[in-house]
Amino acid sequence: MKVTVKANANIALTKYWGKKDAALKTPWNSSTSVTLEGLETTTTVDFDKQYKKDIFILDGKECAEETDEYKEVKEQLDIIRKKAKMNLKAKVVSKNDFPTAAGFASSASGLAALTFGAAKAAGLNLSVEELSKISRMGSGSASRSLIDGFAIWHKGERADGEDSFAEQIAPKEFWPEFRILGCVISKKAKKIKSRAGMAQSVKTSPIFKQWYEHAEIDAQKMVELIKKKDFVALGELAQHNCILMHACAMTTLPPIIYWAPGSLEVMHRVLELQDEGVKCYFTLDGGPQVKIICLEKDVPKIKEEIKKLEGVHEIIECKPGLGPREVKGHLF
Ligand code: DP6
Repeated sequence: MKVTVKANANIALTKYWGKKDAALKTPWNSSTSVTLEGLETTTTVDFDKQYKKDIFILDGKECAEETDEYKEVKEQLDIIRKKAKMNLKAKVVSKNDFPTAAGFASSASGLAALTFGAAKAAGLNLSVEELSKISRMGSGSASRSLIDGFAIWHKGERADGEDSFAEQIAPKEFWPEFRILGCVISKKAKKIKSRAGMAQSVKTSPIFKQWYEHAEIDAQKMVELIKKKDFVALGELAQHNCILMHACAMTTLPPIIYWAPGSLEVMHRVLELQDEGVKCYFTLDGGPQVKIICLEKDVPKIKEEIKKLEGVHEIIECKPGLGPREVKGHLF
């Protein structure tokens, strides 16, 4: 009952920011993403009677029972145990190859890996749709990390949340030249987690309704642009949708400002590069890191320019990535 899996982070091309039903973890609007090669979580899950309680070790550190991380893992294991009709405790060891909780969506790859790994270790044979729904319960954006390549997470219409899951728009091979340049601005953990931040936006941002109505239209448009490989329109839409999401976050009480000085430096340089004719666009999630959307042929030029900026520590180049898969080599 020991299984090791890998799952990748994803970057939202049009964002999710706000839950309609906090218990079912269903969003106000659909969102789209690309799964990223190179930003990976590896997780080993072992269900065994030797464990008296669930154990969770993240990046070498055991998480205490009162931490949010531990509770999230336990809740996810409980869902799997219920489905598998068993009650064995588990040991879960997980490691990320990128900065945790700093806007590189470690919760997405982490929860996707945990769900996929725990389901396999429990002997369940679930569809991607089912796994996506279970991952959604752990973290909304994790529902999209179940998908190879480009994904849409449907907001769904049903009151029980059963039609709120991610689906593939196109596999990674569809657009191998597509690139995301992850600019690491700060390796420090962010102050406001997405979960708490978006709950506050739902309650207090005066533009919340405008945000999610517009974001739904953007998500549907994004599907068409991906299918058409219309890169310029895709980049412009992703960038605009990102600014709108952050406008909603910034107009929350108290304000949520994820942009750091270094983020703004990159954003301004990207806009200048656009004026110079380089096809590159920015997007940011719940942290200061800026992700630049571009095509392979423009990577050397963009990297050369962005490297010159003081606030940028590192640039991580990502191609479209795979969905979760089982691998050899257990972590314990
Ligand atoms: C800004 O999926 O981390 O990255 O569902 O509460 O776990 P929970 O939130 P999470 O939020 C991600 C928000 C975002 C935008 C996005 O990925 O769509």
